Amino acid sequence: MIFKEEWERRRAEAEEIFGQYLPKETGTQKRILEAVNYAALAGGKRLRPVFMMAAYEMFHEKDDRIAPFMAAIEMIHTYSLVHDDLPAMDDDDYRRGRKTTHLVFGEAFGVLAGDALLNLAYETTAEAFQSARTLEDYKKTGEALRILSKKAGVYGMVGGQSVDVECEGKTPDFPTLQFIYHLKTGALIEAALMVGAIMGGADKEEIDRMEQIASRVGLAFQIQDDILDVVSTTQELGKPVGSDEKNEKMTYVSYAGLEEAKQKQEELSREAQSMLEQMKMGEEKKGSRLEAKEFLKQLILQLIHRTH
Ligand code: IPE
Ligand code: IPE
Ligand code: MG
Ligand code: MG
Ligand code: MG
Repeated sequence: MIFKEEWERRRAEAEEIFGQYLPKETGTQKRILEAVNYAALAGGKRLRPVFMMAAYEMFHEKDDRIAPFMAAIEMIHTYSLVHDDLPAMDDDDYRRGRKTTHLVFGEAFGVLAGDALLNLAYETTAEAFQSARTLEDYKKTGEALRILSKKAGVYGMVGGQSVDVECEGKTPDFPTLQFIYHLKTGALIEAALMVGAIMGGADKEEIDRMEQIASRVGLAFQIQDDILDVVSTTQELGKPVGSDEKNEKMTYVSYAGLEEAKQKQEELSREAQSMLEQMKMGEEKKGSRLEAKEFLKQLILQLIHRTH
């Protein structure tokens, strides 16, 4: 497997699936639909749906039952970015290489586009029930929805964002910093791997393992985000550098320094990779399922050196 080709292929697939679930820009409420698509189609990495699909394929042959959940998690992630950039939060002007949604459509539409995307996510996951055939299918879909909604809310991303905002201008202690990272960024990455595993039919132990792996990946991902906020350029990132300093945010980098942050990020990623490596795959789970696992392992390692 050539990682870069495989990544491009999987990213394009996620992009295509996501696009299928986005709304048409028609009707009297056309403006909000335009704002939704403006935010959604700006071309992010699509990391969460790519993670989810690979996790699904580790436990199940490839089919489109995971598709609504892939679209839904990217909708939730996109809404979190639209709201994160609002003047009341990080007050940033660029996202994914273009002006933020609230700058183009106005602040009220920034709020509404986020609301719309969040709601659309659940409208989309509800569709997953329609392709359920057996009681087992219904159970898996319900459990996947339970995890996705929990990891997006006050016990997940929203909870992390809340404490993040509360700590602006302050010096939270290290456990609080870790709490913020774990929730604001880790939770959705945990949801991506867990939902993929649940829908793929993984057992409880395997689902727990996926959560632990994703938790480390999430922490590493946010540390790298903070590193890039210091060392990268706005052009490369597609979003403003120096945002954390502007908002007087304590980050892993300001807490421990750039070098230690880099080390920690790499250590967490390698730990996640080796935990994945150690996951046993039954005889029936060979072939394409091993390929999905191999891709996930490589993706986790590649993220150590990501530049955007
Ligand atoms: C940015 O996420 C926000 C964080 C959780 C650090 P990504 O870096 O995945 O953003 P996109 O989706 O590629 O734009
Ligand atoms: C936010 O962290 C993570 C979210 C849940 C949106 P940041 O505020 O550091 O994300 P960026 O740097 O704006 O993407
Ligand atoms: Mg923020
Ligand atoms: Mg931000
Ligand atoms: Mg950031």
